[in-house]
Amino acid sequence: MYICMCYGVTDKAIRHAVENEGVGNIRELREHLAVGSQCGKCIQMAQQVIDATIVDE
Ligand code: FES
Repeated sequence: MYICMCYGVTDKAIRHAVENEGVGNIRELREHLAVGSQCGKCIQMAQQVIDATIVDE
């Protein structure tokens, strides 16, 4: 499922970044995948994916 339409970033890509690239918050995710740096509409959803992935670990 696409989370960030502006950059075409999926929930899977976000999970991968959290699990394998040490991303732990929105700022780090933005540095890795540019998520949220255009319109910002995806930030809340992206945060939920980060939180859910961290809880699963
Ligand atoms: Fe992510 Fe616009 S949908 S910055």
